Amino acid sequence: MTSSPSRSLASDHVDQAPDQAPDQAPDQAPDPAANRPADWWRSAVVYQIYPRSFCDSNGDGIGDIPGITSRLDYLIDLGVDVLWLSPVYRSPMDDNGYDISDYQDVDPLFGTLEDLDALIAGCHERGLRLVMDLVVNHTSDEHPWFVESRDPSSPKRDWYWWRPARPGHEPGTPGAEPNNWGAAFSGPAWHFDETSGEYYLHLFSPKQPDLNWENPEVRQAVYAMMRWWVDRGVDGFRMDVINFISKDVTLPDGPQGPGQPHGSAFPGSANGPRLDEFLAEMNREVGLSDQHLLTVGEMPGSTIEVARRVTDPARDELNMVFTFEHVDLDVAPGGLKWDLADLPLPVLKRNLESWQVGLADVGWNSLYWNNHDQPRAVSRFGDDSDEHRVHSAKTLATVLHLHRGTPYVYQGEELGMTNAGFDEIGHYRDIESVNYHAAALVLGIDPETVLRSLAVKSRDNARTPMQWDDTAYGGFTTGEPWLPVNPNHKTINAVAAQADPRSVFAHYQSLIELRHTHPVVVDGRFELLLPDHEQLWVITRTLGRDRLLVLANCSSYAVAAPSDELPPLDGAEVLLATHPGSTGLDLAPWESRIYALKN
Ligand code: NOJ
Repeated sequence: MTSSPSRSLASDHVDQAPDQAPDQAPDQAPDPAANRPADWWRSAVVYQIYPRSFCDSNGDGIGDIPGITSRLDYLIDLGVDVLWLSPVYRSPMDDNGYDISDYQDVDPLFGTLEDLDALIAGCHERGLRLVMDLVVNHTSDEHPWFVESRDPSSPKRDWYWWRPARPGHEPGTPGAEPNNWGAAFSGPAWHFDETSGEYYLHLFSPKQPDLNWENPEVRQAVYAMMRWWVDRGVDGFRMDVINFISKDVTLPDGPQGPGQPHGSAFPGSANGPRLDEFLAEMNREVGLSDQHLLTVGEMPGSTIEVARRVTDPARDELNMVFTFEHVDLDVAPGGLKWDLADLPLPVLKRNLESWQVGLADVGWNSLYWNNHDQPRAVSRFGDDSDEHRVHSAKTLATVLHLHRGTPYVYQGEELGMTNAGFDEIGHYRDIESVNYHAAALVLGIDPETVLRSLAVKSRDNARTPMQWDDTAYGGFTTGEPWLPVNPNHKTINAVAAQADPRSVFAHYQSLIELRHTHPVVVDGRFELLLPDHEQLWVITRTLGRDRLLVLANCSSYAVAAPSDELPPLDGAEVLLATHPGSTGLDLAPWESRIYALKN
């Protein structure tokens, strides 16, 4: 298959004047709404770039915007429709840019606003759209809003969650925090400010204070900033932990297990009573639906019911959400993400099925295995041994892309990149991993166990540099990379994959093209067959007279598919297979096929 159909699909929505300079000023930009048909995102495939780790153009060891622009033709070759750019805003980089100190500037590490304009133009020239990360549950503590807010008499004091110590406790002493919530990056979710004698809330690091969305001035400031980006030409927003913007304003203590140093910030910190109101207001004030902008809300702890509500098109809130349920299944009951547990295939299948069913008539799913916060899919859900890596990466992709929803591909997933699995703490850079290591040792958890958890679950697994070629540092940089390059870049790299018609990359190209050419992939009704089978993942998709069957062996062992429990395969055409030419129902390890069934 070639990638041309996706280009023609994409090019019909980019209507740029031929004489328009790529770095034109935003006030001369074409009317962006006119270039985006309604619901265009339903048939799109999104590619996520984590700028720090994608491509370094200036040899400082850190990826940057000109590096991304230099690789746009790679994305065109893959066939994706949208680039989601993780944060490039000005930031002290406590959480690699998810702590923003200026929403309307680019951090010098990544380049300049002009570089970003050139990237947007470069995308649009090629029929690609660009979606920005929007991080507005919190700012950096170095954002001028928070700096001002530190003064109790400032009009911005109420822009953040400042609270006195728990009644009866001496401010600043252990246990005096306003409630028992733990922060996502270890420690309490409250930081004591000696000057004012009060605490501020930070659900992540102390350098990421939570904005108070109850204050209408905060909301209007965020909307104005979003309009500024829309005017600059962006095609939508991926909204960081957006369900945290409405909290239970009584800030109640959360459940606290025995031996746990802090209570859970759930349910009080998320999915609060004003979530729908805030999202609808944002949509209206920024013109998100009116301008056909893509909106995807990252929503940890949200249920199908919440997702169905916020993605109901009649409510004009969001297009889709990132659920966390399927990436929280390999965790021991009641434990944290670090408490590893096996994940039986039926549990995973059933979970994805429940979202398919829940959002079948109203709303829309996003589909992902990977992002910058998750370990590599092939290491986690597949088999990254030399023997099975390629087939398991392809089969996982097939299964995911044949669910109903918009698929997200995270950089390097299309190469079958694997976990780094560092074995010493000195290699880790991620704040969550480094803090967890320190906190776990204080709690007396065995150091080997801690390192094992990090090797399996650390976010740094996703953040090792993109593997472009087999040269030193994988072609990512000419300098010293900020995080080690995985030594397997010698064999797993883009140059090798693009030259190999049997590569994981070629398989992703075919899957993306299938979506662009077969409406049943986009809109077909979903059904899960053999839900309790321990090895097989079997799906049908039906649209009118078109019916697809996905038959996938999600295990490292051969399996015979039970013909009497499958639809008849007589006359069926194989649209895509991991083992071309293989027929019959004896499937090799990680073998999968997509059939177009005969009517
Ligand atoms: C979710 C982002 O994906 C993650 O990388 C970040 O650390 C937190 N939100 C805080 O912004």
